[in-house]
Amino acid sequence: MTSSSVDCGQVKDSLKRWSADFDAKFASVLIPAGDAPAELVEAMRYAALAGGKRLRPYFVTRCCVLSGGCPEAAFHAAVAVECVHTFSLVHDDLPSMDDDDLRRGQPTVHRKFGEAMAVLAGDALLTLAFELVVRDLPDAAWASDMVGELARGVGWSGMIGGQVIDILGEDKASSVDLVRSIHAMKTAALFETSCRLGALAGGADASVLSALSRYGRCLGSSFQAADDILDVTATASQMGKKVGKDATAGKQSLPRAVGIEESRKVARRLADEAVCALDLFGREADDLRALAKFVVQRQH
Ligand code: IPE
Ligand code: IPE
Ligand code: MG
Ligand code: MG
Ligand code: MG
Repeated sequence: MTSSSVDCGQVKDSLKRWSADFDAKFASVLIPAGDAPAELVEAMRYAALAGGKRLRPYFVTRCCVLSGGCPEAAFHAAVAVECVHTFSLVHDDLPSMDDDDLRRGQPTVHRKFGEAMAVLAGDALLTLAFELVVRDLPDAAWASDMVGELARGVGWSGMIGGQVIDILGEDKASSVDLVRSIHAMKTAALFETSCRLGALAGGADASVLSALSRYGRCLGSSFQAADDILDVTATASQMGKKVGKDATAGKQSLPRAVGIEESRKVARRLADEAVCALDLFGREADDLRALAKFVVQRQH
């Protein structure tokens, strides 16, 4: 399959069908537990159930199946990564970070519930992810691997570390090396972790784990390159979030570093590398191959 031959509409439709089913189950996990304040649960559900492409939980689920597991074995890990991702968006939008008003087509959590609640709802989603990622696992060693994997993807050398470099890079001289490490950490780390959690849940052997890790890593950087491009070329109604904000904030974006045309080439090259990582699989990985193409061709 070449970059130009993938049917984006078809990929989008099948992801939409999958996410409708995922969202129904996700909603049933995000219900009040113990003494959780109703306002907090409301803010968490507002952020998490507002739509979103659900790419990361899809990767968890499919990588589990490609590793020999059943989709159900990956469910809690899939919900966990979407909780982490949602937390990252809620905090990313805060006035002290990217200061955004619109997310997933609706007012951001701090706009709707206030800043304190947005900080705390994000914290609670992150914490819930660690509770979920070990749920129903049969032994402690397995649970420890899953927690370690999630912590690495999210933490100081993963997504959160990347957000720090992103913020510190604002208004500095443009540097393509800096952009590369920001993309690798703030976005690709969680893509890789999503694939690895799925592979671990499915009992992958070393070669499958390594292939799926590479797929997630390359596709994550490609995805962020595309996000940077869309910030310049797309509209807010397509994206469900404001556009043109990277330039306004003086971000280390890829288009700022190398221009739009070269950015498109970088995004395509990384997506092609992600597809190459799947060489040890047959037709059963075709949906992941198609998704890699979708990531660079998407308009939202
Ligand atoms: C947005 O991620 C944040 C980035 C890493 C660019 P998505 O584009 O996957 O956001 P949703 O989940 O679809 O809203
Ligand atoms: C954020 O990158 C990546 C995260 C880890 C949340 P951006 O700041 O570019 O994401 P958007 O464009 O606001 O979705
Ligand atoms: Mg940001
Ligand atoms: Mg942002
Ligand atoms: Mg962006």
